[in-house]
Amino acid sequence: MKAVSLEEVLQKESRLTLGLMSGTSADGLDIAYCEVNVRNHFLKNLASATIPYPANLREKILGIARTRKTDLAELLGLSSYLGHFYADAIELFCRDHEITKRGVDLVGSHGQTVAHLSRPLQFLDRSVTGTLQIGEAEVIAKRLGILTVSDFRSGDIAVGGSGAPLTPIYHRAVFSREGKTNVVVNIGGIANITILKEGGVCLATDTGPGNCLLDTIVRDRTDHHFDDSGKLASSGEIDEALLSKLLQSEVLQRRLPVSHDRGEILRLLDDDDIAISMNKLSTESILATLSELTAITIKHATDQVLGSATPDSVIVCGGGAHNSFLMRRLQHHFSRSRVLSAAEFGVDVDFVEAEAFAYLANLTLSSLSGNLPQVTGASRAAILGKISLP
Ligand SMILES: Nc1ncnc2c1ncn2[C@@H]1O[C@H](COP(=O)(O)OP(=O)(O)O)[C@@H](O)[C@H]1O
Ligand SMILES: [Mg+2]
Repeated sequence: MKAVSLEEVLQKESRLTLGLMSGTSADGLDIAYCEVNVRNHFLKNLASATIPYPANLREKILGIARTRKTDLAELLGLSSYLGHFYADAIELFCRDHEITKRGVDLVGSHGQTVAHLSRPLQFLDRSVTGTLQIGEAEVIAKRLGILTVSDFRSGDIAVGGSGAPLTPIYHRAVFSREGKTNVVVNIGGIANITILKEGGVCLATDTGPGNCLLDTIVRDRTDHHFDDSGKLASSGEIDEALLSKLLQSEVLQRRLPVSHDRGEILRLLDDDDIAISMNKLSTESILATLSELTAITIKHATDQVLGSATPDSVIVCGGGAHNSFLMRRLQHHFSRSRVLSAAEFGVDVDFVEAEAFAYLANLTLSSLSGNLPQVTGASRAAILGKISLP
């Protein structure tokens, strides 16, 4: 059966959209199959799944992100490989959910970030910034015959923004409540917050590590990939000396809003002083301390924006929402707010970001801007994304 044409997609009142997201944890590709109303932009998640990355692919991506070193041929190969991986994943997902080709109007693909300049770089006679998400969208569009929007961040950078975060426009659509101050916390590899107040977004920023330091320690010291439900951390003790050394690091002292590079956060563990402190502790206590670091940096960032005001709700999504120890530490620090999983808003915590890219792809096709200049620092609102035709 022939796929849906561009003209048909543009005229539709609602578009069946696949949002694809793969975060800095490189744990897998999150797919959300959504129906997006073109007039009011209401999004309904119809089905979702994560297709895990095989271990060798994950190691390759994490290695590049950590060292920032790769060969150009290897990078091209990886981008092409991921494009095919995404296309295979969509085929598998559609087969499992009995979705035909005509059942998909559009793909919004974030891609895999391998580099994100968190601060300007002096290049020849100009100061420049940039971001690189790979996973060739042309492969998805051409192989599957589906219109695909990708590379959302570059448009914001082109108008002077930092290219991140882009999910706040979607957080506002889902989690904003009249008269309430809500903080949306996404705990992926890196953690980020969106502060919603008076129907708008007052600030969104990365806060520091999410799960990336935890995952690195767990992988180095155990046979697991992550601290399931925070069980290991729960049996450790928070070490105040290590915590205060980590908190004093330059990367966690920057003025908000910030956009963090995963590699830069991971290099915290290479610091001699920090490594010496860690070597004196059990794995459990290191994990307890690093979980506390995640919770406390989220609290500090929120306080910097809200001052003494208390958020009504702290709504947690991303993989970190499954970590009960982390959730308890957040409730400890936000003692006067309700700390809850985004699941209580009827949202699947693991697919908020994938949904956001389905949402953003629809804004692109409707010629609507997807960035919030007050959030990214851009000089203006801009239509984001590159469109790959089937
Ligand atoms: N059951 C769980 N218990 C504790 N942590 C979890 C659990 N499930 C996922 N995570 C954490 O969440 C991470 C993945 O989160 P995710 O939101 O997908 O991040 P990213 O956007 O960086 O891919 C995992 O690497 C792991 O650290
Ligand atoms: Mg992930």
